[in-house]
Amino acid sequence: WPVYAPYVAAINRLKRERSAVILAHNYQTPEIYHCVADIVGDSLQLAREAEKVDAKIIVQCGVHFMAETSKLMNPEKTVLVPDMRAGCSLSESITAADVRLLRERYPGVPIVTYVNTSAEVKAESDICCTSSNAVKVVESLDSDTVLCIPDEYLALNVARQTNKKILTWKGHCEVHERFTAEELLAYKDADPSIQIVAHPECHPDVLAVSDYAGSTAGMIDYVKGKRPARVLLVTECSMASNVQSEVPGVEFVKPCNLCPHMRRITLPKILESLTDMTGEVRVDPAIADRARRAVERMVALAN
Ligand code: 13P
Ligand code: SF4
Repeated sequence: WPVYAPYVAAINRLKRERSAVILAHNYQTPEIYHCVADIVGDSLQLAREAEKVDAKIIVQCGVHFMAETSKLMNPEKTVLVPDMRAGCSLSESITAADVRLLRERYPGVPIVTYVNTSAEVKAESDICCTSSNAVKVVESLDSDTVLCIPDEYLALNVARQTNKKILTWKGHCEVHERFTAEELLAYKDADPSIQIVAHPECHPDVLAVSDYAGSTAGMIDYVKGKRPARVLLVTECSMASNVQSEVPGVEFVKPCNLCPHMRRITLPKILESLTDMTGEVRVDPAIADRARRAVERMVALAN
């Protein structure tokens, strides 16, 4: 890792000088996750940690919607995202106008929006959810029918765990939709002891052949707790690299898929962003107030 050392030293020095903290998602590359991040976690953990940040600046190492969520949770802070183009196929799949149309089409049906969406979409929603609390959020609502958008597969996976009728949208994660039950079964056939650990953005058929499904943090905890000899993390590739050093003896088996959006965040871009204060995330205050309400409702439920 000597190639990273000058960047790591410069970033950590600038963090102190500028009063900045780095929040990094579990999908960030190991040199970010292990060497410059102050807090790592899944979407829910990062949203909750953002609210508690005392420092003046939050550098969000993750995708744009995560930085927006930090800004919603702690609006007084300057929130930087080292590459503004770090998007998300789920976030791109739906607009605020789409949500308003759904509201007209299904009057009275509560709208649960996955955090992988823009602030504008959150602002049109009743409450947010993440992969770690989607079932809990849906169950908390006083309605037999719930709109769970925009991730179709997450919604179908929730539907299997509740008696409520779940309506959804056709959004997909371009990373998780590529996994198939057939390819995973081939691994199980070759080695029945292998543990298959999947993210709920995968197709329900994939979850059906998995030993565990949960958020990125849930997946990490499962591996740390179970310490299987061989495990297949059905998710973004960096997860296995990040956890590897903490669970020696566990073999991480491919396949995994890369998220091109997460990959946009690199040490040189973090350094540039902190040096020049570029990539500041701003949310229109009128939208922010409404979007914050949806996120705070979710966070309050998790407390
Ligand atoms: P988690 O909330 O499980 O970390 O998921 C975020 C994400 O983008 C998964 O693709
Ligand atoms: Fe979005 Fe999928 Fe990338 Fe997560 S892995 S940020 S859901 S495209």
